Amino acid sequence: MNIGVVGGAGYVGLITGLGLAEIGHRVINVDLDEGRVGQLNSGHSPIYEEGIDSLLKKNLATGSIQFTTRLAEAIVPSDVIFIAVGTPSGLDGQADLSQVIQAVEGLVQHITNYKVVVLKSTVPVGTVELVRTLLSRSKIEGEDFDIVANPEFLREGKGLKDFFYPDRIVIGTHAEKPQSIMRELYRPIIQREVSWESNESADPGSGHIPLIETDITSAQMIKYASNAFLATRLSFINEIAGLTERVGADIREVALGMGYDPRIGHSYLNAGLGFGGPCLEKDLLALIKIAEGNDYAPVLLKSVLERNDKQIETVLSKVKEVTGHLLYKKVVSVFGLAFKAATNDVRDSMALKVIDRLEQEGAVVQAHDPLAIPEAKVLRPGLICADDPYEAVRNSDVLVILTEWPVFAELDYARIKKLMKQPAIVDARNLLDATKVRASGFTYTGIGSV
Ligand code: UGA
Repeated sequence: MNIGVVGGAGYVGLITGLGLAEIGHRVINVDLDEGRVGQLNSGHSPIYEEGIDSLLKKNLATGSIQFTTRLAEAIVPSDVIFIAVGTPSGLDGQADLSQVIQAVEGLVQHITNYKVVVLKSTVPVGTVELVRTLLSRSKIEGEDFDIVANPEFLREGKGLKDFFYPDRIVIGTHAEKPQSIMRELYRPIIQREVSWESNESADPGSGHIPLIETDITSAQMIKYASNAFLATRLSFINEIAGLTERVGADIREVALGMGYDPRIGHSYLNAGLGFGGPCLEKDLLALIKIAEGNDYAPVLLKSVLERNDKQIETVLSKVKEVTGHLLYKKVVSVFGLAFKAATNDVRDSMALKVIDRLEQEGAVVQAHDPLAIPEAKVLRPGLICADDPYEAVRNSDVLVILTEWPVFAELDYARIKKLMKQPAIVDARNLLDATKVRASGFTYTGIGSV
C-alpha cells in the first residue's frame, strides 16, 4: 500500500513509517522539521533506537521510504495517512491539539481520492469529532475519507521491537472499508511473518497477534487506560517502598514475591524514582482532564501523580541525610540524565527534576550519562557533565544513581571510592548490589529497604 505519515520525523512517526516500509509498503514521511528530514534522507536517525540506523539505510536504499517537508508529496499518492504529530501537555494538562489541527487542515487540501486517515497520536476522545468536522468541510466521510484510531504502544528504546512484535493491535472504526484496509496493512505483523533482527534476541512468539477491532472512542481509551495503569503500578510500588523501608522489609523481595501471582505479574514493579518521560505523565494529565470535562472525579489518577512527584523529595532527603542535611556547596555526582535506560530522551526526566532540586539547595552537580548528555545540555545548558563516569565522581560528597542504565552496575566501585571525597551512594533506582557496594566500603541507601 502507499502510506503517508504526517509528523514522520518524530518518534512515533519515524518508527511507524520505517516499520511499515520494512513490511512491504511504500511510505512517505512528511515533517516540518527541515533539519531532521535532511538528516533522515542521508541515512541518519535523529532519535536513538535499537537497530534504527540499519533499518533506515536499508529502506532508503530500496526506495521503500522517503522523507519530505512537502505535505502534498506524502498525501496525494497515499491510500492511508497516519497522523503522528506531537500532542504535548498544554498549560493546564489538557492535550495541546494545535499540531493535529494544522496537519488535518493541511492534508485535506490534497485529498483527491479515498483515504483512510489514521489517528496514531494519542489524542483526547473528542478529537475525532474535531478531525471529522475539519475534513467534512470539503470532503465526504465514507466517500473521500474514513477516520480510524490506531493507538501505539511503543516503548522508547524498544520501539521497533514493539512495532514488529506487538502484544496487540487496536483498530478503532466500525466502518467496514477502513477496517479491512487496516487489517491488510498490518497483515504481516498480525500473522507474525516479520523477521526483524535486532541486537536483542526478540522472541517472535507464536499464533496470531491479538487484533482488537472496536469503536473509535474505545480504541482511544485503551491507550489512555493502559498508560494510566502502568503509572498506577509504579506509584503503588513506590508507595509500598516507603512503607517497607519503615518496617524493615525489602521492596525488591516484596515485589518479587507479589509478581509470582499471575494476576499481578512481575513487570512495572521496580520501585525507584517514579515514572518520567514524554508519555505516562502527559497521558495521565490528559485523562484527568477528560474525566473532569465529563463531570467525573478522577481521585485515583490524581493520587498516582501526587505519589510520583513525592519520589523527588524522597530522593532529595536521602541525599541530605548523607551530607548532614545541608547541600550548599556539596559536590553531588549524578549517574543518569535520560528518563530511563536505553534512550537519550530527557523530556520530563525525573533525573533532571532531582538535579534541579539539588541545585536549588546549593549543591554542585557533576553529571554523567552514557548517551543523553547532549540532549540534557539543550535543556540545562549550565549543567556540568562528564563523558567519563570516573571524572564525574571526582571529589564528590555523594553519588546519586538516577537512571537505571545497567552499565552503571558494571563500573569499578573500588576506583570510584578512591576518587570520591566521601564514599556514599544513594541509589534511586535500586540498581546496584547493596551487599557488594557496602563490602567495598560505601555507605549505601536504596529505595524501599534499610
Ligand atoms: C510508555 C509505555 O510503556 C508504552 O507502552 C507507551 O506506548 C508509551 O509510554 C507511549 O505512550 O508512547 P515509555 O514512555 O517509553 O513507554 O516508558 P516506559 O518504558 O513505560 O517507562 C516509563 C518510566 O517508568 C521510566 O521513567 C522508567 O524508568 C520508569 N519505570 C518503569 C520504573 O520506575 N519502574 C519500572 O518497573 C518500570
